[in-house]
Amino acid sequence: MVSKDSKSASPAPPDDVRTRHAELARALDAHNYRYYVLDDPSVTDAQFDALLNELKGLEATHPALVTPDSPTQRVAGEIRSGTVKVKHRVRMFSLDNAYGAEDMGEFFRRVKDGLPDSETPRFVIEPKLDGASIEVVYEDGRISVASTRGDGETGEDITANIRTIRNIPLTITHLGRLTLRGEVVIYKKDLETFNAERATQELEPFANPRNAAAGSLRMMDSNEVARRPLRAIFYQLVEGPELHKSHSESIAWLAAIQLPTHRREVMGGDGDVLAAIDAIDAARAGYPYETDGAVVKVDTYRHQDVLGFTSKFPKWAVAYKFKAERIATRIREITVQVGRTGALTPVANLDPVELAGTTVSRASLHNGDQIAELDVRLGDLVFIEKAGEIIPQVVGVDTAARTGDERLFEMPKTCPSCGTATARSKRDEAKPELGDEVVLRCPNRTCPAQVKGQIFYFARRFAMDVDRLGAVLVEQMVDRKLVLDVADLYTLTAPQIIELERMGDKSAQNVVESIARSKARTLDRLLCGLGIPQVGQVAAKQLAEEARTLKEMLEWNEEETRAHVASIRGYGPKMVDSVVLFLFDKGQRSLMEKLRDLGVSAPQPRAEVATTGPLLGVKVCVTGVLSRKREDVHAEIRAAGGEVHDGVKKDTNYLVAGEKTGKSKLDQAKKFGTKVITETELSALLNP
Ligand code: IVH
Repeated sequence: MVSKDSKSASPAPPDDVRTRHAELARALDAHNYRYYVLDDPSVTDAQFDALLNELKGLEATHPALVTPDSPTQRVAGEIRSGTVKVKHRVRMFSLDNAYGAEDMGEFFRRVKDGLPDSETPRFVIEPKLDGASIEVVYEDGRISVASTRGDGETGEDITANIRTIRNIPLTITHLGRLTLRGEVVIYKKDLETFNAERATQELEPFANPRNAAAGSLRMMDSNEVARRPLRAIFYQLVEGPELHKSHSESIAWLAAIQLPTHRREVMGGDGDVLAAIDAIDAARAGYPYETDGAVVKVDTYRHQDVLGFTSKFPKWAVAYKFKAERIATRIREITVQVGRTGALTPVANLDPVELAGTTVSRASLHNGDQIAELDVRLGDLVFIEKAGEIIPQVVGVDTAARTGDERLFEMPKTCPSCGTATARSKRDEAKPELGDEVVLRCPNRTCPAQVKGQIFYFARRFAMDVDRLGAVLVEQMVDRKLVLDVADLYTLTAPQIIELERMGDKSAQNVVESIARSKARTLDRLLCGLGIPQVGQVAAKQLAEEARTLKEMLEWNEEETRAHVASIRGYGPKMVDSVVLFLFDKGQRSLMEKLRDLGVSAPQPRAEVATTGPLLGVKVCVTGVLSRKREDVHAEIRAAGGEVHDGVKKDTNYLVAGEKTGKSKLDQAKKFGTKVITETELSALLNP
């Protein structure tokens, strides 16, 4: 990057240089447009790079030529030091969902009832993109600000990151203000390549394009964002020329001024709309991006204005959600995985099939009881679905297709990792919603598969955040007995790590440093990383605040522990029992003592308890994918005097349900009469 000073100090470039610079910039923009928007490149990558390099050369000798909208600036980004809020000039609504023809009928009826009899609505149908929503504002042809959706009223400033997205033009021909809404997505094929690249760096792959897109947009370093294969597609013009009469006209105009827009269809009759939805459903596996539904909008702006909004949604649009795709394939083998708590999970190895855009060759069978219940046999033709569009699951068997050669499968009597005899016990992970489900477990704590699982869990972002511990590395560390438990990580040395495959001097040093850095995480993060059953992030923080240090916590005797833990707000008898059991388990205690002696974890800062605020005495549980980090939402609730619950309990007042909220949480809410609200509704409670 060139600083402002050097710009003003450097002499004005000669005219011929200026002309060439403008020429190159124009050519590069045009090639970008052909490549990323039209998908029809007219030059090779090498030719493109040559032009870009020439431009970079000119700017290096004549810094005055560097402007924020030069094509070179897409990569030479800036580092955000914190988050800056952007208030949306017009509220960003979300859409009401429809799940079938009946819901659509309801939508059509409401639209017709809302319009005078003399008016016939026309509808626009578009694929619903599964990415992250953005707002981009152009002023006089240049990007002035870009933001995330946030709570709909206020988002986060992501202008620098948006500039790195190749299919968003840095300049456009239109003067005046243009406010656009759209979705940032990652093409399915790009995510595959990108994840493969991450795997070579031992980084965790992104589970789906949406997570990858949303996570990328909020990164602090836009140089890193520039490396991600993001694309934007605009689906709404919010402020612009007043001359358009309809949404479809506006979108066509956006496409004409070379902005990336959506494929769309306009039609009148209800039947046509339903047929168009089905057509998208049938075609979406072939779309380059993930599509989870279809959006139906009333086209004419005048009609939209008459119909207006509810408190949450426009009455003139609806999102039709597709049913999870289901496909049949054959089970070749069932392998059994051992998790960090020793639970044995059967996994079906399948004949590879395409499902919702990816090739699936493995699917979860949950547990032995599930296999028995579905009557799944080796060689069976089974149906698989993606739950939440991510992890494929076996949901049924095509018994009619049986040949008689299928074989029954039995869960192993011994652990596939260490050979210890397995035992049935209650599932006691921090998932009370699973109830008293019984699982088969390997009881051996030093089982290599369990230790690996514990290390991965310990290293996760919300726990000790050790980013350099990739799968291949951990496998080797445990298999070679360099680490027998998580505490052993802290005594690893670079020379020991260099011995492992695919580890150079530099990477070994990075591993050691990233482990060492984690030592300074606060006690709550350590408690999260240890995975105390029933104790989630919120409860871990409360427990850490009660104890302050690991040393102090280990000094409590059993009776004191029980008293301390029982005094924590929101801890029920089950949680108290679970914590006491964990802290006085011989194995866990000696592990914690080892960690204490190694100086792992920093004292927990005392909680500031709000004694006033709009949520005083109100108990809230937050779940699903939100526009912001969950901890930030928790902090706001607490600052407003509210109490945060990890799960939905009898006295939980509100469940804030983000996208992809699990059914079990919703069921709990129903059972306890907990009110289910959106993130936007929470904001309204926080800022009455
Ligand atoms: S229109 C007021 N069109 O789905 C209308 N949204 O739950 C605003 N989305 O937040 C949305 N594809 O991020 C619209 N073709 C499309 C869309 C779309 C995806 C997202 C968008 C919005 C969410 C609605």
